[in-house]
Amino acid sequence: MDEQRKELDPELVCTCNDLYVDDIQDALRLGEREYKDIFSIHEMAPRCCGCIDHVLQLRRDWESE
Ligand code: FES
Repeated sequence: MDEQRKELDPELVCTCNDLYVDDIQDALRLGEREYKDIFSIHEMAPRCCGCIDHVLQLRRDWESE
C-alpha cells in the first residue's frame, strides 16, 4: 500500500493494482461481494491487502444504497 499515493487521490482504492472506486463499483454491480472476487473480475489479486478496509467500506456503502 502506497499511503502517499492514496492520500493524493481519494478515488484510488488499491495502490498495488491501481484499482479505483469505479473499478470496485463495477465488480459490485456485477454481483461480486468477496474481497478476492472483486479483484478477480479485473484479473488481479490482492497483494498486501492494505486496501481491504476501503474495499469493504465501499461494499457496505453499495449494500446500503
Ligand atoms: S493496496 Fe495492496 S492489495 Fe490493495
